[in-house]
Amino acid sequence: MTWLITGGAGYIGAHVVRAMTEAGERAVVYDDLSTGIADRVPDGVPLVVGSVLDGERVARALGDHGITGVVHLAAKKQVGESVELPLHYYRQNVEGLRVLLEAVTAAAVPSFVFSSSAAVYGMPDVDLVTEETPCLPMSPYGETKLAGEWLVRATGRASGLSTASLRYFNVAGAASPALADTGVFNLVPMVFEKLTAGEAPRVFGDDYPTPDGTCVRDYIHVADLAEAHVAAARALTASPGRALTLNIGRGEGVSVREMIDRINTLTGHDRPATVTARRPGDPPRVVASADRAAAELGWKAKYDVQDMITSAWEGWLHRHPEAARD
Ligand SMILES: NC(=O)c1ccc[n+]([C@@H]2O[C@H](COP(=O)([O-])OP(=O)(O)OC[C@H]3O[C@@H](n4cnc5c(N)ncnc54)[C@H](O)[C@@H]3O)[C@@H](O)[C@H]2O)c1
Repeated sequence: MTWLITGGAGYIGAHVVRAMTEAGERAVVYDDLSTGIADRVPDGVPLVVGSVLDGERVARALGDHGITGVVHLAAKKQVGESVELPLHYYRQNVEGLRVLLEAVTAAAVPSFVFSSSAAVYGMPDVDLVTEETPCLPMSPYGETKLAGEWLVRATGRASGLSTASLRYFNVAGAASPALADTGVFNLVPMVFEKLTAGEAPRVFGDDYPTPDGTCVRDYIHVADLAEAHVAAARALTASPGRALTLNIGRGEGVSVREMIDRINTLTGHDRPATVTARRPGDPPRVVASADRAAAELGWKAKYDVQDMITSAWEGWLHRHPEAARD
């Protein structure tokens, strides 16, 4: 199989490329390099620079490289920015997906894996979120992911395309320092940034109905997430006509305060967090039930939170050597 990996020069996409090639699949990266980094694409993997909004370019890439499956990660992902720029997010994430699917179905590519997000659930009021938990996204970003899932599923029904929508929970860590996340949008890099600047990490609200009052999330190592893509790609190839929607998490909640404490200990800092006001739209607890992914894919996360923090810190030091402490 030869897989077109859109967004393959991004943080998660680069890990997917690595996992797919290590598993013996051929990969071609399609990326507009808007946030991606060409150096993340390994030697021997072709890089096509283009936008998924450019249907002709996508169609040419599918034909030129004999593509037999697509993993679609290319998207904009910042929740706050999506509130400011909803039209941009709908264009990139929904229209981009529609254009891509048009080319994919025209070329009769049989398999399609889509990057969705736990953001589709919004404010789930349950201990463990299953795939049957109602989807009520709280941001334009989450809406674009839910609309994307609908588009993927409807296209599958109409055309016979096999599809998997993977709802990622909170992604962290790196398989190697060079592949680490360069953005500072998630809790782990945000805490690293504060500690490196000699400032206290921030907690947005400590009066939530959770054991220590801070928000609880389900963190998943990016290397485990990448393996879930390999498993999904193989499942679609093995049984055409499937339509999977799966949570990709660990099924274990970790609070913001616990993460900050662990990061302080690991990095040799001792900076208690400053508590500021809640951020609007932050749900108290979002933790996956990972049962369906285990049943459908035989996939289960291997790494724990300590592995995520350790590998993310190595990646941070790679780019910020000044952060090292004796
Ligand atoms: N990082 C997370 O915590 C997280 C959580 C849930 C879901 N996701 C989803 O995972 C996917 C990858 O996220 P990431 O964290 O690797 O982000 P990223 O920004 O590092 O990667 C996105 C990649 O897509 C490329 N891209 C963006 N728009 C494009 C377009 N129109 N055409 C072609 N390429 C384009 C970028 O250049 C980049 O390489 C996204 O779909 C995101 O919504 C991420």
